[in-house]
Amino acid sequence: DVDKSELFTPEIRAAIDAHIAKYPPEWKQSAVMPALSIVQEANGGWLTTELMDDVAAYLDMPAVSVYEVATFYGMYDLEPQGRHKVCVCNSISCMLNGSEELIEHVEHKYGVKVGGTTADGRFTLKEVECLGACRDAPVVLLDKVYHEKLTPEALDQLIDGLE
Ligand code: FES
Repeated sequence: DVDKSELFTPEIRAAIDAHIAKYPPEWKQSAVMPALSIVQEANGGWLTTELMDDVAAYLDMPAVSVYEVATFYGMYDLEPQGRHKVCVCNSISCMLNGSEELIEHVEHKYGVKVGGTTADGRFTLKEVECLGACRDAPVVLLDKVYHEKLTPEALDQLIDGLE
């Protein structure tokens, strides 16, 4: 129930409403992707079924349609995440320029598998589809920041700087 949800604070509602306002009232479901992103971020980086239900109720749309969006797009996570997300692009340009090496390096050095979180909860390692910065492959999205032409050493430096 959205009205009972502690997460749907006035600030969160206002942030979602700002996206709803971009569409005619009968199209407010068009705001589903930003709404999910806002709620996910407010919830520590992942979406529960309850939260997806709340987004559906808020946008007057079927819950199943919200689940479909949340499971189709890689930027939504349906399980608890580490404090940071290290997203390595595994599409063709990045793969040809060493993304697999980056992933193997992180897996070995930090004891984490793709999709998993380090034992200390510091970060979750993810493989993602093309991030649209192929010219500078390999590309890693660390939380919201793109890092390009990464070597394992450069990625280590980034990870070592995470709290
Ligand atoms: Fe990695 Fe496009 S293939 S950014």
